[in-house]
Parts: sequence; C-alpha cells; structure tokens
Amino acid sequence: MSGYLLGKNQPNRRTGSNQGLMAVVCKNQPSDTENADGMVRSLTVGGVRWRNNILLAPMSGVSDAPFRRAAWRCGAGMVFSEMVASEALVTGHMEMQMKAENAGLPLHVVQLAGRQAKWMDRAARLAEANGADVIDINMGCPARKVTNGLSGSALMRDLDHAMELVNAVLGAVQVPVTLKMRLGWDHHSINAPELARRAVDAGVQMITVHGRTRCQFYKGKADWHAVRAVREATDVPLIVNGDIGCADTAKAAMAASGADGVMLGRVSYGQPNLPGDIANELSGSKEQAGNRYSMVEHYRDMIAFYGEPLGLRCARKHVGWWMERLPFAVGADLKREIMTSRSAVFVEEKLETLEREQGWPSQASSVESQGVAPQGAVLRERAA
Ligand SMILES: Cc1cc2nc3c(=O)[nH]c(=O)nc-3n(C[C@H](O)[C@H](O)[C@H](O)COP(=O)(O)O)c2cc1C
Repeated sequence: MSGYLLGKNQPNRRTGSNQGLMAVVCKNQPSDTENADGMVRSLTVGGVRWRNNILLAPMSGVSDAPFRRAAWRCGAGMVFSEMVASEALVTGHMEMQMKAENAGLPLHVVQLAGRQAKWMDRAARLAEANGADVIDINMGCPARKVTNGLSGSALMRDLDHAMELVNAVLGAVQVPVTLKMRLGWDHHSINAPELARRAVDAGVQMITVHGRTRCQFYKGKADWHAVRAVREATDVPLIVNGDIGCADTAKAAMAASGADGVMLGRVSYGQPNLPGDIANELSGSKEQAGNRYSMVEHYRDMIAFYGEPLGLRCARKHVGWWMERLPFAVGADLKREIMTSRSAVFVEEKLETLEREQGWPSQASSVESQGVAPQGAVLRERAA
C-alpha cells in the first residue's frame, strides 16, 4: 500500500513563514551551482531556495520517483512530480498516490491537474499534508483525454475558470504555488502573459511557459521569444521550456525569453543527468554529472519502488532509451533479452556488463550515499 495519508479535511500547514522549508533545501550534494555571468544561479520561489535554475520537467509516465531521484542526484536544480489528477488523488487512487509520493528528496514538488476547484483544493491540502513543499498547477498538458475533461491546457481557453482553480489552491495551502502553462490554446489566442499576470497577482510564485500553443502539441519549434511577453507581465521567477537540450540552447532560451531558468523534458529520456550536466557546464565546473549517473543504480531503484513484475515493465522504456544513447551499439539479441526478460536479476547483470564496457563504475555510489533516501520500502501491491 502507498504511504499516502488520506483524509477529507487535511490540515493547512499555514505557518506564516517558510523558514522551516528553507532549512531543508540544498542539504544534499551536489551543492548549489552558481556562475559568474548569472546564467546558472539558485532560484528562490516563495522563500524556498532551489539548487539551481536548470530543472527537470514533469513528465507523466517518465518522471516518477526513481527518475527524479536520479536527476536530483546528478545535479538538477529541481524536479517535479508527474501530473497528479486531483480528483483521483483525493478519492484514493493508488496510482495517483504513488505519483504524488515524496521521492525522499530535500524538496518535493507535486504537480496537480484538474478542472474543479473543490478537487484542486482538497488535493492541494492532501499533497501539503503529505509533505509537498511546493504545489505546481498544470495548465499545459495538451493530451486530448486531459483537455476533453477541460483540464491541462484547456484551462487556457477560459482564464476566469483557470483562476478559480489557482485561487482554490492558493487558499488551500501555505506552501508556494507555481503554474506551468503553454503560450495559449492556439496562435489566435496567445494569453500566457495575461494568465501569468493574473496568477501572480493572486499569489503564484513562479511561472513556467512551454513555448508552444496547445494546438501545436509538440510540432514546430518552441518559440522562446514569445515567452518574453510573460517576462514583461510578471516579476516572479520565470522558467522557459521547450526544445532545450544543451548548454547552448539553455543560454539561448534564457536570452530570448528573459527567463530565469530552463526546464528540460524529452531530451532527458535515458539521461536524467542532463539538467545537472548543463548546470555544471554553464557554471564552468569541470565536474560531469553524467559520471555519477548509473543505469544499474536507477534500475535497482525502479525495481525497489514498484516491486516485481510492475517494476520490470516500468523500467523497460528507461533502459531502452539509455541503450540507444550508449556510444556503442548493443546487439539485437542482447537488447531483446534485456527488454523482454522477466528477471530483474538477469537485467541488472546485463546492465552492469554494459556499464563496465562503457568504462563506468558498475557499483556506482549508492542512492543513500548521495543523501537521497530511496522509497523502495514502499513495495507496490498493484495488480501486475
Ligand atoms: C511523455 C510526456 C509526459 C508529459 N507529462 C507532463 C506532465 O505530467 N505535466 C506537465 O506539466 N507537462 C508534461 N509534459 C510536458 C513537458 O513537461 C514539457 O513541457 C514538454 O515536453 C516540452 O519540453 P521539451 O521540449 O523539453 O520536451 C509531458 C511531456 C511528455 C513528452
């Protein structure tokens, strides 16, 4: 069973100050990353200090707790939970509870999606009571099954309704609330600046903008310049997102948009170390976060988190992406064996061999030794 506490009337942790939160930030290695020209810097979001401004995006089905732990360990400035459907969380769906669970990191950001204020209110209270340090609201998801339910980026078609949800969350919790959006529904309705301004006026503490409209889905190129209008409309930390995949594109996106940081999504497939790598590169550090990423370690964490056989299935795409990125081709037979095996021990052995071939330490420093507490004890009892 998930360790998530459910309850209709979760307490509001309003304390009037974020001092307690600040104390727990950045206690892990690697430490804050800063550089002289200000491209890499720590961010303060509603009084909560984030390690740096190169962030891992929330990605349903990808940025689960083990993936976030791997990214954090490698130096990502912040990591976000997968989108959590508010009504499903409140009504006790196991899958949503797992998505909302604290990954054992110093800061826990839970992203909520929904279309009814009452569920957003209750889900936000629940997430806060279960340790969320920041609540992010999703107004960017383009998926039809989400927008047909009038949540995600569909909310950008009705800003009054969007603001009802924002106000519900702001009224429910004491922790900082942030908002992720697209440029607008389509090119005829670019309203990210207006939504951002209204949200910030209401109390939202950070805005992330994916530089595409909902109707673009993932087509075309992200328009970082268009995000500048959001910069001009608001004065809270602004994060630009979309098609950023290296230090140069991170710099270009920040320069074009005036944003304070960047968020990396799909490019992190198979390399959750990338946000940390970029932060290091931009800060001029010689340290390569990638040297600390171990697929074997990530794999073990996934198996512990989900249990078998679910963990084997969840791990396959990560292992597949990682093998695609190896500097040598993995033989088709071996690849098939790894991708279809029902034995975690077998897969782990093969991954160790591949890591050794690549010259990486097969016994990379453990999750615990990096100051990240794995949640593996919470074994999953979901039906296979
Ligand atoms: C598989 C997948 C799942 C996603 N899930 C979420 C999500 O749960 N919440 C969210 O705000 N955005 C989600 N996104 C959008 C990403 O956070 C990001 O905005 C988008 O991928 C653009 O960034 P990129 O070009 O760096 O990938 C998802 C994207 C992908 C590809």
